[in-house]
Amino acid sequence: MNNVMILGGYGAAGKAIAMKLGKRLTGAITIAGRSMAKAKSCVEELEKEAPAGIDYLAASVDVTDQKQIIRACEGQQLVVLACDASPTSLETLVRACVDNGADYVDIAPDSRKRAVFESLAPLISAGQSRFVFDAGADPGLPGWLARWLSLQSPEPLNQMQLFARFRSNEIGWSGAADMLSASGSQGWVYDGHWRRSSLWDYKWKRFRGGLGRSLCVPIRLDEFDSLPEELGLQTFKCYHAGLNPVTDALMLLEGTVLARSIPFETRQRVFFGALKRLTSRPFGLSIEAVGRGAGQLFRAAIGHADLYEATAIPTAVMSEFLLNDKSQSPGFGYLGDWASVYPQFRGELREEGFWFENEASH
Ligand SMILES: NC(=O)c1ccc[n+]([C@@H]2O[C@H](COP(=O)([O-])OP(=O)(O)OC[C@H]3O[C@@H](n4cnc5c(N)ncnc54)[C@H](OP(=O)(O)O)[C@@H]3O)[C@@H](O)[C@H]2O)c1
Repeated sequence: MNNVMILGGYGAAGKAIAMKLGKRLTGAITIAGRSMAKAKSCVEELEKEAPAGIDYLAASVDVTDQKQIIRACEGQQLVVLACDASPTSLETLVRACVDNGADYVDIAPDSRKRAVFESLAPLISAGQSRFVFDAGADPGLPGWLARWLSLQSPEPLNQMQLFARFRSNEIGWSGAADMLSASGSQGWVYDGHWRRSSLWDYKWKRFRGGLGRSLCVPIRLDEFDSLPEELGLQTFKCYHAGLNPVTDALMLLEGTVLARSIPFETRQRVFFGALKRLTSRPFGLSIEAVGRGAGQLFRAAIGHADLYEATAIPTAVMSEFLLNDKSQSPGFGYLGDWASVYPQFRGELREEGFWFENEASH
């Protein structure tokens, strides 16, 4: 029997994860957020489809409150973080996980996160907990797919390009804030070191899985930071499509003085409104990786028809892996790092409804 807690558990992503975990585990899954009423109502909904052997529980937990985090982690074997947490809250959460020997999986991107884990590395390695971060769809799967593709070549690849697109009108309030805050990650390429791309470095791309054609800009995700060196790549670019023309324009404006003169919450509200009203079908996720090396071209693509299912699946697969496999040493890293020590990862994604294509040509 497992005890799992999902912080942000009744949010758009948290609920999808709760549903997916409920189908894969037995035991108790605690749905936690700041509102007990919302947690209870989510539990009622989840219980309608809960298989035998799973109990959903409701809890009121505010991740900004140190005492509440410590109390909530008691007796948990796994904590899933599906809401934003400041570095201070994250540090409390990591310490509480280590104290309880609980594993941890998160999906909330935050460029300050890695530094928190690095500062706590001695504590983490003295405990039993394993920490997987950015274990959702995007960020998450792009870093994994890049690693997977590099393993398909008998010789090291020297160039790689990724193309990614997601479309959904279900993205929650916190998800919208994270997207807007990530505008600074646009316009980066790697060619021996990460540098700003030229204004003209954008590409039109037709995405597999029926996600259509879109203009894409090169971006840098946290999970890519040391990836090109690790894979021995000379050049690495990840071209990402936006959601709709208005949210794309708002992201472009985000770094300007004009945007900074407006409070963040107002900008978030406008972005969230445009996201909900103007993002139309087709929905889903599509990521393609293309690598060159040893005179060959390698290509792999992965996707899903529903972004929130696609987010919940890698989180649930990694959660189950950690709960069942006690042989992995304590430590921390991105989804791509952990999934590469779990050979069944790709097969599990496919069983859960991801499509996958893979080819090599001269
Ligand atoms: N990697 C990926 O593929 C991926 C995909 C989707 C989402 N995400 C990330 O997942 C996170 C959630 O996104 P979402 O779309 O699910 O947003 P959401 O629907 O707004 O959900 C966020 C949840 O967190 C709760 N929350 C907010 N502040 C909290 C606090 N201080 N303590 C405890 N709970 C708190 C909220 O409830 P209350 O306000 O009532 O507390 C809400 O239920 C975001 O960081 C987003 O970027 C990642």
